[in-house]
Amino acid sequence: MKIGTPLASSATRVMLLGSGELGKEVIIALQRLGVETIAVDRYANAPGHQVAHRAHVINMADPVALCALIEQERPDIIVPEIEAIATDALAQIEADGIAEIIPTARAAQLTMNREGIRKLAAETLALPTSRYAFAESLNELRMAIDGGVGYPCIVKPVMSSSGKGQSTINEPEEVEAAWDYAMSGGRIKGGRVIVEEMIEFDFEITLLTVRARGSSGEVETHFCAPIGHRQVNGDYVESWQPQAMSTTALQRSQAIAHAVTESLGGRGIFGVELFIKGDQVWFSEVSPRPHDTGMVTLASQHQNEFELHARAILGLPVSVEMNVTAAASAVIYGTMDEKGVTFEGIDAALQDPQTDLRLFGKPEAFTQRRMGVALAYSSTTNDARQRANHAAKQVIPSKT
Ligand SMILES: Nc1ncnc2c1ncn2[C@@H]1O[C@H](COP(=O)(O)OP(=O)(O)OP(=O)(O)O)[C@@H](O)[C@H]1O
Ligand SMILES: [Mg+2]
Repeated sequence: MKIGTPLASSATRVMLLGSGELGKEVIIALQRLGVETIAVDRYANAPGHQVAHRAHVINMADPVALCALIEQERPDIIVPEIEAIATDALAQIEADGIAEIIPTARAAQLTMNREGIRKLAAETLALPTSRYAFAESLNELRMAIDGGVGYPCIVKPVMSSSGKGQSTINEPEEVEAAWDYAMSGGRIKGGRVIVEEMIEFDFEITLLTVRARGSSGEVETHFCAPIGHRQVNGDYVESWQPQAMSTTALQRSQAIAHAVTESLGGRGIFGVELFIKGDQVWFSEVSPRPHDTGMVTLASQHQNEFELHARAILGLPVSVEMNVTAAASAVIYGTMDEKGVTFEGIDAALQDPQTDLRLFGKPEAFTQRRMGVALAYSSTTNDARQRANHAAKQVIPSKT
């Protein structure tokens, strides 16, 4: 494995499609290895734009614009960081041998739509999932629920993320509102929904799974310690590592993660989302990229999830070892709709020597937009959570 010199003809060039807080950290990890980085996003001054060698603003769902930029930049490797990308164009670029797509174009295609990944997991790989069905109208949704999914259940647009358009239905009277909400929240208008049986889990985890080249040259699978997290309205508010769980549940989780990531193939990190109840494990979904809940690894591992992704992408060896007993992350929200906000209380947040902060540098705050994250480590997950939450609360966005 060789790496060239950035900005020289020998450069190893990596293009990030999506340059939010996760892409920004991947870019930093790549730069530390001397890689030339190109950050792409739909708006100017995105977090990753601020640290890459070059920044571009395009609509990544537009195949013409995407192909033109790839033609112009000629990256060796293309790393999707978001789901809403013209993935068919990526498949063509991969097939033509123009650039390598991480982990594979097929993985990007399958995971951008809940239907693709759910059918692969439940039907092709026979992994345990919630009962589910798809619907294209209010009437079909009612029939799907009455026909087997049952109550309570969760409705989600097939193309959406971060809980957008997602709602819980407890009784027949609520079906119509859930349908209307899903239609308003999907990425594509007039879309399709998945309705899933509500799993009454004890807790949910993200199992970060890395496919990286080992010393033999073959791709090997590594599992980070399980990450527990708490979601509010389908969006993560805090995460911690490790999440305590039974040996059987952990083995089952790893077996599920192994099966699904092996089927998606390629190299890189995957965030495998699982629901756990006692020894029982259900597959929920998978992101073929670093996971938001995995930001805790910035405080917990020798190689955080972004460094693991960077290494795996480049064909380098990885280690998923933790470097502390326990760590946690807590999200800092915008709390207002405002451009160019100021963050107060940074000194207070960092009074505790076991805490750290990441402020993403997003040019515009929204009430529910993730603007930063507080990190903490400790001897127990509970204490790490308390420290991270305390630090996050000290940071107050304000108008300038
Ligand atoms: N079938 C289910 N049973 C119980 N809880 C569920 C189910 N589906 C989703 N949830 C809850 O809602 C959260 C968000 O769901 P999901 O991950 O499918 O949405 P998402 O929009 O892809 O979110 P993200 O992009 O943040 O991962 C889950 O982490 C879980 O807490
Ligand atoms: Mg999810």
